[in-house]
Amino acid sequence: MTEEDINGISNSSFDKAVQKSKLLEMDLYKNPTKYRVLTGDRPTGNLHIGHYFGSILNRVKLQNIGVETYILIADYQVLTDRDVFKDISKFVFELTLDYLACGLDPKEHKTYIFPHSHIPELNQLLVPFLSLVSLSELNKNPTVKEEISASGKEIINAGMYTYPVHQAADILFCKSNVVPVGKDQLPHIELTRTIAKRFNTKFNTNLFPEPIGLLSESPMILGLDGNQKMSKSRNNSIMIKATEDETYKLIKSAKTDSERHIIFDPVNRPEVANLLRLSSLCLGKSPEEIATEIGDLGSGKLKQITADALNSYFKEIRERRIQLEMDKSYVRSILQDGIKMARQTATETLSEVREAMNMMI
Ligand code: TRP
Repeated sequence: MTEEDINGISNSSFDKAVQKSKLLEMDLYKNPTKYRVLTGDRPTGNLHIGHYFGSILNRVKLQNIGVETYILIADYQVLTDRDVFKDISKFVFELTLDYLACGLDPKEHKTYIFPHSHIPELNQLLVPFLSLVSLSELNKNPTVKEEISASGKEIINAGMYTYPVHQAADILFCKSNVVPVGKDQLPHIELTRTIAKRFNTKFNTNLFPEPIGLLSESPMILGLDGNQKMSKSRNNSIMIKATEDETYKLIKSAKTDSERHIIFDPVNRPEVANLLRLSSLCLGKSPEEIATEIGDLGSGKLKQITADALNSYFKEIRERRIQLEMDKSYVRSILQDGIKMARQTATETLSEVREAMNMMI
């Protein structure tokens, strides 16, 4: 299978997105106040260490250099593909706890955390935006197509086709110009750019920026099975909030191979390479260096080093999480502050949108 088959985006447009993302990243560190970041997650449960090294850590870095950061919890979007409404408020709470424990800090920085269901003015943008895209464009979205086929369902609700337009509202309500995402989200960013452009042209305005996707640099973290991405639904992950014991047990159960000598060889020994990569991220040493240190001591030693490294890296984060968990009203106040700020921004944007569309009274 080519990359195009897998992701539905051609290599050349992917290369372009990577290039754009690299240039953007350099400028972000030089001019942090020029940018407004918005990114989002679906509240489907707790975050695992793949999420942490793949995206959360990067968000914390951006926050800490002074970039304004909107973190959106996409609770409406979850309705399009999952039956989780009974658990949703718990998931929103747990996700917020994970964010705060990992260092996102709305009290100290310009960081706002909010569920989009609480921002009516954001949701209202969906209506005009829907008239800017065609059905065939929605049908062609490669990420949506893949999610539909993975769901195995025969009847697909309309929300499944329109959620990328909703996502454009998520991004454009605050006129964000940087959206940190994984590769699978690039089609949605492209659609957002299209909607921004069409809105500006149709209503003769320059209201919306065309946001750029910021692709995370960190290596792909595989699951404990060593042959596919870490993901909760694949049952191969270590949660950020796992205890030390759970972490030891999980790492002990990780698949390795029978060769005693440890080397970093991602192609031929992906499982061993994955554990070396995880230790490397936690210890700040190269995977090769760690492999050399282990040498002939085998995968038992590799597992011990990896579990120790994870447990010491996440110690403080886990302790903070336990503290926060006991302070429900603090966590709630974080969300209330986030909602307040996001609504203020959304209200201003909606009023500008109405003006542009000639719908003021
Ligand atoms: N669709 C994203 C996902 O499945 C979540 C999301 C919703 C999002 N709104 C967003 C991501 C806005 C970035 C920007 O993970």
